[in-house]
Amino acid sequence: MKSGHPWKLTKVVDGKPPKYPFSEIPRPPTGYQWKDISYVIGGYHWKARFMNKDGYIITDWMTTTQVMSDTKYLNQYNFANPDVGKEAGWTTYNSGVKQLPYNCGSCHTTGYTPQGRQGQLPGIVGTWAEPGIQCEACHGPGSQHTANRAASR
Ligand code: HEC
Ligand code: HEC
Repeated sequence: MKSGHPWKLTKVVDGKPPKYPFSEIPRPPTGYQWKDISYVIGGYHWKARFMNKDGYIITDWMTTTQVMSDTKYLNQYNFANPDVGKEAGWTTYNSGVKQLPYNCGSCHTTGYTPQGRQGQLPGIVGTWAEPGIQCEACHGPGSQHTANRAASR
C-alpha cells in the first residue's frame, strides 16, 4: 500500500476525491469538478492525471457549454518533490489533443484484458478486475492458493 502500486488508477465514487495514504490532490483540472471525473491516474506521491466521464484522459478545458482545445491547458498535477527541489504545481500533458483514450490498463490495472471497455466507457481500451496494481497482479489468483496451499507464487 505504501509503494504506490494500488493507487496507479483510482475510481472516483459519488463525486468525492479519492483518499490516498499520504498525499492529497487539491482539485481536478480547471473547468472540472470531482463529479466530472471518472478516474484519477496516479495521484499518489508523484503526479496525477484525470479521466472524464467518457473515460478519455482530460486534455481540454470544459466550460458549461463546450470543450475548448488549448495546448497550454494545465491538466497534470505534480506533487512537490523535495529530493529534486521541485514545488507542487500544474503542468501540461498532451494538452489540446482530441480524445486521448485510456489505453494504459495493461500496466496500471489488475486482471486486464484488451477486449471491451471498462464500465462501457468509450474512452477506455480493455477491461480489468480491479484498477491499480493490487495483490493478485503480483501474487497470482488467491483462488489457486486456497485450492492448494503449495501453489502460491
Ligand atoms: C508498459 C507499462 C506501462 C504503460 C503501458 C503505461 N505505464 Fe504509466 N507507469 C508505468 C510504471 C512502471 C510506472 C511507475 C514508474 C515509476 O514509479 O518510476 C508508471 C507511472 C505512471 C504515472 C505516475 C503515477 C504516480 O503514482 O504518480 C502516471 C500518471 C502514469 N504512469 C500514467 C500512464 C498513462 C496515462 C498511460 C497510458 C497513456 C500509462 N501510464 C501507460 C508503466 C506503464
Ligand atoms: C508489486 C508486486 C506486489 C504486490 C502488488 C503485492 N505484493 Fe506481496 N509480495 C511481493 C513480493 C515481491 C514479496 C516477497 C517480498 C520478500 O520476500 O521480501 C511479497 C510478499 C508478500 C507476503 C509474504 C509472503 C511470505 O511468504 O512471507 C505476503 C503475505 C504478501 N506479499 C501479501 C500481499 C498482499 C495481501 C498484497 C495486497 C495488499 C500484496 N502482497 C501485494 C510483491 C507484491
